[in-house]
Amino acid sequence: MSDTPFCQCPVVPGPPRLVRGNTERERMPTVVVEQAADVAILLADRISATIARCVFEKGRCVLGLASGRTPIGIYRELVRRHVTGDLDFSRVATFNLDEYYPIDPANRRSYRYYMEENLFRHVNIDPSNAHMPDGSVHRDDVDGLCAAYEEMIRAAGGIDFQILGIGRTGHIGFNEPGSTPGSRTRLITLDAITRCDAASDFPDEVSVPAEAITMGIATILEAREIALIATGEHKADIVRRAIEEEPTAEVTASFLQGHAGTTAWLDRAAAGRLTRLRLADEGPG
Ligand code: F6R
Repeated sequence: MSDTPFCQCPVVPGPPRLVRGNTERERMPTVVVEQAADVAILLADRISATIARCVFEKGRCVLGLASGRTPIGIYRELVRRHVTGDLDFSRVATFNLDEYYPIDPANRRSYRYYMEENLFRHVNIDPSNAHMPDGSVHRDDVDGLCAAYEEMIRAAGGIDFQILGIGRTGHIGFNEPGSTPGSRTRLITLDAITRCDAASDFPDEVSVPAEAITMGIATILEAREIALIATGEHKADIVRRAIEEEPTAEVTASFLQGHAGTTAWLDRAAAGRLTRLRLADEGPG
């Protein structure tokens, strides 16, 4: 996160341009577009369509949301559509994937603060429908909070559309390497790489909380539709492992291969190590 969490990055006009190629090695449906801004438009389209369909069919829509840099352009586009009167959040409930622990929700480095700044305070969501794990509960109460979070998701009818970033450890949510497909919402120790990547949002690396509360892999896999989103060259290695290699607890995003409603959405830079891009680089001959 920067000092101004609300992203000012330009959204490119015109239809997103798809990057095609040989997809034989890809173990989940994958959409590659030229730029991160194209990813933002496509995801805003999917989310808008999901809200419209779910509200029509059952009177409400439940979104699973992520923090971090990746979804900022998506939130910006959703806010733009709301401001122009094209998107209504009055029947939307949200559940965020994770929150640092311990952290006060009012702390500007908390994911609660991030969500308020980047989405919630700009749209007409009922604040009581915008759910996040509370990073300020007493340690003795964390297990109860996690069980209650699972129950709240169930009571809301489950998640209709879940957006996910991917960490350089291959994590989704904060399900670091070793997390199992059966894992549920819980307290987890953050990987050293994850804390290093988060350091720019904090005064220094030691100030990054050592733990987080995260939805589990099983919780995530219960969502009806899942979008795994990655932008930027620094994600290219881990994206290839998640999409082209056998599922493994070493790269927990790879467990999404077993979920029929998952699509990976990538910009060209994040897709750069996929076979479809490497073969294209080698040319036809
Ligand atoms: C954040 C989350 C994480 C991030 C991932 C990528 O809520 O669940 O899994 O999505 O660490 O972070 P960025 O987008 O900052 O590269």
